Amino acid sequence: MEEIRLGTVGTGSIVHHILDAVSAAEGIRCTAVYSHSREKAEALAAEYNIPGIYTNHETMLSDPAVNCVYIASPNSLHFPQMMQALRHGKHVICEKPLCPTVREVREAAALAEANHLMLAEAVPTMHLANYRCLEEALTEIGAVRTVSCRYGKYSSRYDALKGGSIPNVFSLKYAGGCLADINYYNLYLCAALFGQPEKLNYKAEIWPGAADTSGTAVLQYPGITAYCCGAKDKDLASYVWIEGERGRIFIPGGANGIRELWVYTEKGREIMNPDKNLISPEIRQYLSARTGREANPFRWYLEICSLTKLFLMEDHAALRRLLAVSETTAAMTELARESAGIHFV
Ligand SMILES: NC(=O)c1ccc[n+]([C@@H]2O[C@H](COP(=O)([O-])OP(=O)(O)OC[C@H]3O[C@@H](n4cnc5c(N)ncnc54)[C@H](OP(=O)(O)O)[C@@H]3O)[C@@H](O)[C@H]2O)c1
Repeated sequence: MEEIRLGTVGTGSIVHHILDAVSAAEGIRCTAVYSHSREKAEALAAEYNIPGIYTNHETMLSDPAVNCVYIASPNSLHFPQMMQALRHGKHVICEKPLCPTVREVREAAALAEANHLMLAEAVPTMHLANYRCLEEALTEIGAVRTVSCRYGKYSSRYDALKGGSIPNVFSLKYAGGCLADINYYNLYLCAALFGQPEKLNYKAEIWPGAADTSGTAVLQYPGITAYCCGAKDKDLASYVWIEGERGRIFIPGGANGIRELWVYTEKGREIMNPDKNLISPEIRQYLSARTGREANPFRWYLEICSLTKLFLMEDHAALRRLLAVSETTAAMTELARESAGIHFV
């Protein structure tokens, strides 16, 4: 593959973050947008100078100028839209959560494999040099015993929920909820580092007629207990602590984006952030200006650069390893919903 030519699905703020990253990255450009609304599609296309404008998903999928679809629609639409894209011979990058169920992840992965197409979930975590640094740091703190991941922000869409409407992000119909949204990053980090837990229990605050607005999942691994706490109904002190027998690691700001690592061992504290050397001052300035007050505006750029490299190299083995983590995370979210009595409709 010589270049990724994206067609986008959805027009929410994440699409802007990704298109900002695409504008700054090499080997990838956006050639088409799809939205329900012509007005929104035209506005997005004008902002990023994108030639193709579609109000029909299927028609965009027939456009030869598109070779890869980036899906950023409500969660329950990811699976049908990615299957449609794969059937049209397009590669797929899909926002997290890839699919609500393991069965769907496997089905999509099998179709991609059968058609020699690439499929990836858009979660920055494993694309970061800081993640690889975390894996190395883990070898310095002895056997891990406890993991505490907290990530929570009061959501403006929680106000809408309290006002009587059900925004997609809290909707059972659209596979929403805090676990599928903000706590997902915590579960994903645990899936990446430790795999599938032996036991998982999720205690959640559930809005009547809707999904969870906050909650804590307790993951039991042999010798390790991980607490994953997420909230959209309050601000949380957001961080990760990983505590081992001979040291501990702190991630300020939480699992999403792994901004920095503070590694405490018998040698003292060392602060690590190799990601910061990967972004030129010009790109740093451009992304900071585009994202305003966003706490960690570079994670999508690093994710897009990494995915572009994997797609251009057609590195199926690396993409399979990433999909395995997506599958484990889907399995964990299914178990969690089951234990808390959350049923998508
Ligand atoms: N990686 C990250 O940091 C990050 C951050 C935020 C969100 N996300 C993920 O990105 C995805 C989109 O999130 P979002 O907050 O933008 O969601 P959203 O606002 O609920 O919907 C996204 C887009 O889907 C379309 N849409 C909305 N309701 C629809 C419906 N009923 N039927 C069909 N299409 C509909 C809309 O686009 P049109 O009207 O233009 O068609 C909308 O812009 C989610 O899966 C979320 O988990 C990821």
